Amino acid sequence: MTNLFPPAPPLGTPMLAARSSAEARKTIALRRSSSKRCLTEPGPDKTALDELLTVAARVPDHRRLAPWRFIVFEGNARDAFNARAVEIQKSENPNATEVMLADTASFFTRAPVVIAVVSSPNPTHKTPVWEQELSAGALCQNLLLAANASGWAGCWLSEWIAFSPGINQLLGLTVDERVAGYIYLGTATDNPQERLRPDVSSKIERWTA
Ligand SMILES: Cc1cc2nc3c(=O)[nH]c(=O)nc-3n(C[C@H](O)[C@H](O)[C@H](O)COP(=O)(O)O)c2cc1C
Repeated sequence: MTNLFPPAPPLGTPMLAARSSAEARKTIALRRSSSKRCLTEPGPDKTALDELLTVAARVPDHRRLAPWRFIVFEGNARDAFNARAVEIQKSENPNATEVMLADTASFFTRAPVVIAVVSSPNPTHKTPVWEQELSAGALCQNLLLAANASGWAGCWLSEWIAFSPGINQLLGLTVDERVAGYIYLGTATDNPQERLRPDVSSKIERWTA
């Protein structure tokens, strides 16, 4: 482990229910995704990534099903994925243009590391699949925050590869599994700007009986 994060304490250790931290507040309040065009080497190595995935997996998880898993793309495996993805795009989308295919040909080489966070729900469990899928979404966000807090830039993309039967087959997903997000991690070549924010107050109501 890189020891950037404290290790998980032994089972049953008394834990704090809240942990006030100005740095954590800043990381959350000022979080921004990196552009997919602004990620370069270096990215987290195996040790650092294993640690990031370990802390990211500390998500709310109804009935402790751990209904997610990871597929990591690094090094030459990214080029191999890109080549297969182009072939799949050609076969699934006859309208794919040369520009679209060229874009796909560089998908996973846009960052040093790409992690497919796979939502892997148990459809027969009494915990609704929706709740299991939400846990995978929470994990994606946790991963971005953990990466940012460790100095890595990142973004959460889906693009067509998250909805392609051919890609799902290539990755060995079961019929119940879906990619919750492809998380791209690396070093930022450029810093993002603040983007337009929704008026959150317009989305808040106070329920009265
Ligand atoms: C499930 C999910 C899928 C996304 N897929 C894409 C995508 O395919 N392409 C894209 O440009 N942004 C995508 N985004 C949005 C970016 O990750 C990012 O949130 C957005 O650019 C706004 O930047 P911010 O996260 O800094 O607010 C996706 C977000 C989510 C939650």
